Amino acid sequence: MKNFWNTLEKPIFILAPMEDVTDTVLRQVIAQCGKPAVFFTEFTNVEGMFSKGEKFVNQRLRHTEAERPLVAQIWGTRPENFFKAAKKLIDMGFDGIDLNMGCPASGVMQKGACSGLINNRPLAKEIIDATKAGAEGYIPVSVKTRLGFRAIDFEWIRFVLEQQPAALTVHARTVSEMSKVPAHWDKLKTVVDMRNAINSDTLIIGNGDVKSLSDARQKVAEAGADGAMIGRGIFENPYLFSETTTLSDKTPEEKMHLLLAHMQLWTDTWGESKHFPVLRKFFKVYASGFPGAQELRIQLMETQTPEETEQIVTSFLQALSSRHLSPVEAEEISMAPRRLPSPANAQAGHRSSTS
Ligand SMILES: Cc1cc2nc3c(=O)[nH]c(=O)nc-3n(C[C@H](O)[C@H](O)[C@H](O)COP(=O)(O)O)c2cc1C
Repeated sequence: MKNFWNTLEKPIFILAPMEDVTDTVLRQVIAQCGKPAVFFTEFTNVEGMFSKGEKFVNQRLRHTEAERPLVAQIWGTRPENFFKAAKKLIDMGFDGIDLNMGCPASGVMQKGACSGLINNRPLAKEIIDATKAGAEGYIPVSVKTRLGFRAIDFEWIRFVLEQQPAALTVHARTVSEMSKVPAHWDKLKTVVDMRNAINSDTLIIGNGDVKSLSDARQKVAEAGADGAMIGRGIFENPYLFSETTTLSDKTPEEKMHLLLAHMQLWTDTWGESKHFPVLRKFFKVYASGFPGAQELRIQLMETQTPEETEQIVTSFLQALSSRHLSPVEAEEISMAPRRLPSPANAQAGHRSSTS
């Protein structure tokens, strides 16, 4: 079996799966800004993958080569669908499969899926076994979960470790805690000790509240873990996985060109097939940290189309350049191509997939 997890240099830094955030477009943007060691898809329902709405569900699985190694995260309740999904994901070229056993959203939990499985260990085992059987000999299966349901429950963690996933990501909160309390990184050490005590090869990845690579390094070292998964931190700094660049190094012009490039890629990829407002949350990321950003953000958060957004950004850029530059220079900036920096240009902030 090709187990990419064993080829990665530690500590392993991973972009967390985030519904309606980490689609192929965002993953490509992050890969250009500073590449994490591993990407995950948004969670994808295995029942939906074989339903009439399959085409819509499978948008979550769209990907490009720039996003490797890429793990497909799946969820559901019927082991036979996990088996079929594993086969399909191998055919689609994924590098690994992750089982979501931690999402606290009431809609999925009430179905007994995701974090609901913490309270149904026989089904959790059947799902892991069925996915492994489907992926057998081809790609590794990992699990992402929380520290427990209502209370911290190391028996749950031991139970998952006994199923020998290739990697176990622990979001260091219980399900009941949602995201309302600071992540209990101090508990990760117990998870690592437990893994060591049973002589397991499972990689332990900590998750929750990591703000930067240096923060990740410190938390991982204290826990003795193999890596960290980072999610919301990218809203403050899309360059979070870069060793050399951060968003605050960028000029307002550069931030606006990144916004336009991101939007262009989104439009080229999704056209009319996705709802435009899901893109607007990223405008706040780029329109920040410079004079006039707040007013610009307010305008951008009300836009309904890419054209309207582009118009606002172009006027902003023109106003900015006419303040600082000669008319010729201002024209050049407003006409600059809307492309993400090439991987070569982004190299300074680019980590290889094995680093
Ligand atoms: C908007 C949003 C969507 C999320 N979607 C998923 C998901 O699809 N699958 C999953 O396992 N976790 C999901 N999560 C949880 C994150 O992967 C991560 O565990 C959590 O945000 C804590 O990490 P952070 O503090 O670095 O963000 C989501 C979180 C957010 C904020």
